[in-house]
Amino acid sequence: MSVWAVLAAAGRGERLGEDKPKVFARLGDLPLLAEPLRRLEESEWVERIVIAAPPGWEEPCILLAEELGAGKVASVVTGGEARADSVRTAIADVPGDAAVILVHDAARPLVSEDVIERVLAPLSEGWDGAVPALAICDTVKRVRGDAVVETLDREGLVLTQTPQAFLAETLRRSFQSSSPLLQREGAATDCASLVEAQGGRVKVVAGEAALLKVTTQDDLDLVATWL
Ligand code: CTP
Ligand code: MG
Repeated sequence: MSVWAVLAAAGRGERLGEDKPKVFARLGDLPLLAEPLRRLEESEWVERIVIAAPPGWEEPCILLAEELGAGKVASVVTGGEARADSVRTAIADVPGDAAVILVHDAARPLVSEDVIERVLAPLSEGWDGAVPALAICDTVKRVRGDAVVETLDREGLVLTQTPQAFLAETLRRSFQSSSPLLQREGAATDCASLVEAQGGRVKVVAGEAALLKVTTQDDLDLVATWL
C-alpha cells in the first residue's frame, strides 16, 4: 500500500497573531512545521510527502525540509485561500499510482505513529476513509450572538482531528466534484466532509488529546510543554 502524505501548512495563522504564518511560529527551537514534518518523515507508513506552503513561504519550507534531512518531501506547492484549496493543489502533485493519501494539519504538531496506523487500517477493510476523533465531554449548545438558542444532544457527536486517511481515488473524486461544500465558504473544514458528501464511507477511530490543533498562543505554549 503506497501512502503519500499531504501536509496542510498554508494557513495564515490569524488567530495566533504573529507577523509570520503559524507554521513558522517557534515551537521549542524550531519552526512549528519542523515537528509534524519530522514525524511524517520518520513514519514507517509514509512513502512521500507533499507540503502546501503559505504563498511566498515555499522557499523557507524547502530549506527547512533540507535542514531536517526530510528526503521524503517530493514537492512544496503554493497553498490557496481556503484549506480545501491548499489540499486540492497538493493532491494534484501526488502521482496516480499512490493508493492512499494521508492528509494532516501542520498545526497539529504531535502526530503519532499509532494514530497513523489507526487511520490506515480501515482502508484495507473496505472503508473509503478514516478519521481520528475524541468524544465530547462538555455540554454542546447552539448560540446566536451571546444568547443560547438550544442545547444539543451530544450523544453520537465527536470532535474530529487529523491525520485523515483516504483511498487516493476517492479523495481525488471528492475534490473534483462540484460539492456545495466546496462553494460555501468555511464549509469544508476537513477532507472527510467532502468524501462523506460524495457518499463515501468514513470510519471513526480513536483520536489523541496530544493532536491538539495550535490555534492561539496558549495552545502553542501548551504543546511546547508536551514536546
Ligand atoms: N491551511 C492551509 N491552507 C489554508 C488554510 C489553512 O493549508 N488556506 C492549514 C493550516 O496551515 C493548518 C490547517 O490547515 O495546518 C488548519 O487550519 P487553521 O488551524 O485554521 O490554521 P490557519 O488558517 O493558519 O489559522 P487561522 O485560521 O487562525 O488563520
Ligand atoms: Mg484557518
